[in-house]
Amino acid sequence: MDGDGETLANLLREERRFPPPPEMAAAANAGEDAFRAADADGDAFWAAAAARLEWAEPWTQVRDWSRAPFARWFTGGRLNVAANCLDRHVRDGRGDRVAFHWEGEPGDTRTLTYADLKDEVCRAANALLELGVRAGDRVALYMPMIPETVVAMLACARIGAPHTVVFGGFSAEALRGRILDCDARVVVTADGGYRKGAASALKPAVDEALEQCPDVRSVLVVRRTGQDVGWTDGRDVWWHDLVGAQPAEHEPEAFDAEHPLYIMYTSGTTARPKGILHTTGGYLTQVAWSHWAVFDIKPEQDVYWTAADIGWVTGHSYIVYGPLANGVTSVLYEGTPDTPHQGRWWEIVQKYGVTILYCAPTAIRTFMKWGEEIPGRFDLSSLRLLGSVGEPINPEAWMWYRHAIGSDRCPVVDTWWQTETGAHMISPLPGAATLKPGSALRALPGIRAEVVDDTGKPVPNGSGGYLVLTEPWPSMLRTIWGDEQRYIDTYWSRFPGYYFAGDGAKKDEDGDIWLLGRVDDVMNVSGHRISTTEVESALVSHPRVAEAAVVGAADATTGQGIVAFVILRGDGGGDTPDGELAAKLRAHVAKEIGPIARPRQILVVGELPKTRSGKIMRRLLRDIAENRPLGDVTTLTDSSVMDAIRDGLPAAA
Ligand code: WTA
Repeated sequence: MDGDGETLANLLREERRFPPPPEMAAAANAGEDAFRAADADGDAFWAAAAARLEWAEPWTQVRDWSRAPFARWFTGGRLNVAANCLDRHVRDGRGDRVAFHWEGEPGDTRTLTYADLKDEVCRAANALLELGVRAGDRVALYMPMIPETVVAMLACARIGAPHTVVFGGFSAEALRGRILDCDARVVVTADGGYRKGAASALKPAVDEALEQCPDVRSVLVVRRTGQDVGWTDGRDVWWHDLVGAQPAEHEPEAFDAEHPLYIMYTSGTTARPKGILHTTGGYLTQVAWSHWAVFDIKPEQDVYWTAADIGWVTGHSYIVYGPLANGVTSVLYEGTPDTPHQGRWWEIVQKYGVTILYCAPTAIRTFMKWGEEIPGRFDLSSLRLLGSVGEPINPEAWMWYRHAIGSDRCPVVDTWWQTETGAHMISPLPGAATLKPGSALRALPGIRAEVVDDTGKPVPNGSGGYLVLTEPWPSMLRTIWGDEQRYIDTYWSRFPGYYFAGDGAKKDEDGDIWLLGRVDDVMNVSGHRISTTEVESALVSHPRVAEAAVVGAADATTGQGIVAFVILRGDGGGDTPDGELAAKLRAHVAKEIGPIARPRQILVVGELPKTRSGKIMRRLLRDIAENRPLGDVTTLTDSSVMDAIRDGLPAAA
């Protein structure tokens, strides 16, 4: 945890405190009672949370940890996720409630009620069945932020076909890898979507990916932008032709609580992304409960907005499954925050009367940079609660968010969780907690988190260490798709018996938790997880690159920026950095992985600092990338390497 000394010292000086607004405390969905109930009997607590859903068959056992670390929750229970998100609301008289106010980037809009959404999902479910999709078959989605994306996910859930949503910003290559890894036979996509004021194509990446995916038999294509698309007869079919022709009736089948719901790929410490598997009953239970408790959801009044992409876990849990299970009205926005102007988000909040906003610190820091007069031009008085997710939020960004967006009124809940955890794990409950800017405070009811030292012993208050989860939880990942050993090795081996999150954390004098960022080789760029190894292997796949080392360097806006040190092939090793080559390499990485992985900076060097065991010392490279004096160099094979690197760099580095 290099460079943490300073962070720790700054955080220790943070003494501002914000008790809950009295009105919120008085009407809160969950507070100290929930902690007491969960502490008294964890299984009974989660059983009560599960009872908020509708089950076709009751479970016989709440948690089964007998084959740890492979968990089963709500054994024997059966339910249908889509019926829980839609049918029961419609049946119980809530069909006319708006499920989504959708706002396209160009300004076109659609309003879908729960009844509308149910009809669309039934049609799409029938369409997938017609394409031969059966329970257990995987379906890949590569979509823009449009209602059909939600519809396709719920249609998959309805027929028990696990979906894997691949973020639309990923490359054809990344899409291909994911389709092959989970052996998806059907892909749902669109011609394109709107981003930054222009139509941005998606279908060409699907066509390119499928050149090497011979088992994909059907591609269902939504027409969103109307741009020209390549077409493979017999394989490609328009959504409006196939889905539009289906009946709006479909009888949902109940699936086992442990039936796979989806696979979400995320970066690990190796070049190969991990397929995180989530299942049905425990996932929906915890996602629905946490959404209701952490955001204090009042479904009759709230207009809820998660401003994130559905292609990430945040979108799965808190755009789709949590909000719909709770029957609340949400906003769904297609585009970027500065199109056509930098006040677009605030215009949307004003237009729809958004009451709860959930977004990432990187967005907040960008808005800070643009200036508080921009949100100041809009009426944000409908807001009552703000949330943050994806990376540590520094106290100044937290304060700005509360002040400039929340009018010094709205609590800010900093929610720590991961793709693997499926749902919030550490977060304040806004009606109960006294907030500390920059702290996620403590584990939610029913969750056990600890900060441990190298040997796995809990650290005393006032010290830092590694964040672990000491007990299983309902929405935990069940395994890594197709690789049980990697699941055990990655999460359960570093501290036997504990789930190792990969994050550093600190307990303050009150025992509250402050997250400090990753302790492994995973970077966090604008809230997106990218592995250093993944970018390194993309770089060395370029013919001019012999070796590469990548680090995440502190970045005022994006949290971390990707800085790559490369050694060129042949005699090129000692070349002066060549702007043109750097640009080519940056583009190459964007092509291989996706634009989010494009390095901020590429530095050509003659050698890389390595330990005697041959491990690259990224810590030292990070010192250089962040303009810091070098840390301990004694384990290097040759400490003069660092002088050579530093001397050879342009002044800007
Ligand atoms: C980081 C996103 C500090 C953390 C939901 C974690 C956070 C990784 C927070 C998971 C937070 C997420 N404070 N760090 N509130 N939320 N992180 O899988 O490093 O995309 O391990 O899930 O993001 O990222 P993922």
